[in-house]
Amino acid sequence: LLNQIELAPPDKILGLTETFNNDTNPSKVNLTVGIYKDNYGKVTTFPSISKAQKLIDRELGLNKNLSYLPIKGGKDYAENVKHFLYDESCSSSTNLVAGSEKNYGKQLIDNNRISFAQTLSGTGALAISAKFLALFISKKVWIPNFSWANHMNIFNKNGFKDIHYYSYYDVKSGQLTVDNWLNDLKEKVSKDKSPEPHCIILHACCHNPTGLDPTREDWDKIIDTINELKMIPIIDMAYQGLESGNLIQDAYLLRKCIDPKYVWDNGLFLCQSFAKNMGLYGERVGSLSIVAPSHSPPRVKEAVDSQLKRIIRSIYSSPPGYGSRVANLVLSDPGLKSQWFKDVNIMVNRLQGIRDQLSTNLDWSTVNDSQQHGMFYFTRFSLPVVQELRDKYSIYLTDDGRLSLSGINDSNIEYVCDTFKKIENQ
Ligand code: LMR
Repeated sequence: LLNQIELAPPDKILGLTETFNNDTNPSKVNLTVGIYKDNYGKVTTFPSISKAQKLIDRELGLNKNLSYLPIKGGKDYAENVKHFLYDESCSSSTNLVAGSEKNYGKQLIDNNRISFAQTLSGTGALAISAKFLALFISKKVWIPNFSWANHMNIFNKNGFKDIHYYSYYDVKSGQLTVDNWLNDLKEKVSKDKSPEPHCIILHACCHNPTGLDPTREDWDKIIDTINELKMIPIIDMAYQGLESGNLIQDAYLLRKCIDPKYVWDNGLFLCQSFAKNMGLYGERVGSLSIVAPSHSPPRVKEAVDSQLKRIIRSIYSSPPGYGSRVANLVLSDPGLKSQWFKDVNIMVNRLQGIRDQLSTNLDWSTVNDSQQHGMFYFTRFSLPVVQELRDKYSIYLTDDGRLSLSGINDSNIEYVCDTFKKIENQ
């Protein structure tokens, strides 16, 4: 049987860095993976993070304890992350959901409605969600077209056999297609009479790969529809802070979804990551929370918690310690936390600066328009153009034409822009 195994295709994002590393062209430029790099091409360690690292190593001695973490991660981490996500990010002063004055997120914590697990970043949270959902609730999911290349892979490899795509973006116009999105759901989900509910992946902000997010008015319509169709929202929040430069503001979708006017009978799933906004990529730091509906008795949350533990134990036993200690310290120390907020803002300003430079150097009118957010620009280059850029010029974008902005810096911007002009004028 081993002889019959077919070659799997290379990963659509990480696989390209392998190819890039083997490229001998000295002018090569890697604009594939979403890693924030500074103007010198270095993966950035934010000041808040390096201060926390020093404290952990030298003063607190936390790394002396190399024992296992609990299956669902440390208690402090759970408390601090829940506080950050559901209390601070959902607090009434920032709660822009019309008419709501209460901090519903804090109520969820106080009423013990959130099943929480520290996960191996956002990917781990999505994979555990998929396993959990496929085992107990649903094997049907809707993914935006376009989406992060790994979404389909994660759901497909974790038990989902019924994968659908909703219209999100029109390549020709470069615009979102919210009306088509809603029509897709209304037409297809409402016609399905089986009792199995449909899940839906929602990018909380900085949509990957297009960089275009629905407006708040659009989100209001979208969430109303998803609620009417009794779908299960799975919020993928990998880029909190990278939309506006303000971590709290960017949690609009979460704030919106926890409004008690929505009753998510089968839970609300939040898959969150500190990879990008803390620059903790390789440390794999994130979380999964499943919010139980208000009408559910306490045993529901207990059962969910216990099953999450069982799933995690069967895959990787318990999460790694170091990165989560760093994140925990940043979240729990007011000085480090305010430095972190500044660090995120500085990163977003540099990304905006690159957008402005591209817009000046090229005739790209949309690259710095106010609807564009996050680490990526979606060039709408066709696959043959992307391949030519790679093969002839050693400029690497993902196959869908996505460009990771921070890979551009003072030493390569001229080469990148000249090449793009050449390609566009062919
Ligand atoms: C990306 O889209 O480049 C990042 O989310 C990294 C990854 O894991 O794919």
